[in-house]
Amino acid sequence: PAFKNILITGAAGALGNVLRESLRPYAATLTLNDREPLGEVRENERHFVCDLADRDAVFEMMRGIEMVIHLGGAPRENTFQVILDSNIAGGYHIYEAARQAGVKRVIYASSVHAIGFYECTQTIDAAAPQRPDSLYGVSKTFVENLSRYYFDKFGIESVCMRIGSCFPKPVDRRMLATWLSYDDFSQLCIRALMTPSVGHMIVYGNSDNSASFWDNTQAAYLGYRPKDSADAYRAEVYASTPAGDPRHPAVRFQGGQFAADGHYEDP
Ligand code: NAI
Repeated sequence: PAFKNILITGAAGALGNVLRESLRPYAATLTLNDREPLGEVRENERHFVCDLADRDAVFEMMRGIEMVIHLGGAPRENTFQVILDSNIAGGYHIYEAARQAGVKRVIYASSVHAIGFYECTQTIDAAAPQRPDSLYGVSKTFVENLSRYYFDKFGIESVCMRIGSCFPKPVDRRMLATWLSYDDFSQLCIRALMTPSVGHMIVYGNSDNSASFWDNTQAAYLGYRPKDSADAYRAEVYASTPAGDPRHPAVRFQGGQFAADGHYEDP
């Protein structure tokens, strides 16, 4: 295998389960982390169940790790306390433990919601200023900035993947632009692991969709060549979903419903 020990956080989740299979050939040991049960320990797996908000546990988990794929955390809008503990403190613990353990690279599941307030009619690239559409999106921008800091000060490399919509297939019209197939997600992660030098990068995570909002030149540097396209589902999606009002925030903005939704107020 190319690596001795790769850590995947959020390994009990949807994307974690995809990588648990596809990264198997790339690591002598795959360390899987989640706060939920991870099922049976399979050959070449090490399981480490802990909450990412638990600093000491994250530090212990990180010993001996070479590369990190950081997927764990709240995957959508939530109360500030949940976002603070799981995404902001969790992200900090990952980077600080990575520094102390001498980790070479972190691959981070950022999100379209880091830039969700750009209009769908705009085409942006990785250099576009962040425009988060939710507290969740703000937490993604925080960890992107954290990764930048840890690269500039300590040389820890990062690839932040602003993932669009990573699901088995696109199910609404927005996903015709934002969809990322599971196979293309795996390919992007593998390219992010295998490219010898990445420095600090932000890339978009979507398949080869002609309706894309993004100029993904940066991802091409990694050798990422998406094999799937939401275009194959266009007719099906148009037949099963209404057009929507282009002035409605959920249709107007790249973040879709997250841009339209209200805000969790503290009790
Ligand atoms: P998921 O909810 O299926 O997986 C997230 C996992 O993180 C869960 O297994 C959960 O138990 C774990 N987790 C949550 N808080 C934790 C904590 N405090 N400590 C330890 N574990 C914790 O979500 P999914 O779809 O697999 O997403 C993975 C990552 O990718 C998330 O960071 C999400 O924000 C990001 N992402 C996903 C997109 C998608 O389309 N699926 C789009 C953009 C970003």
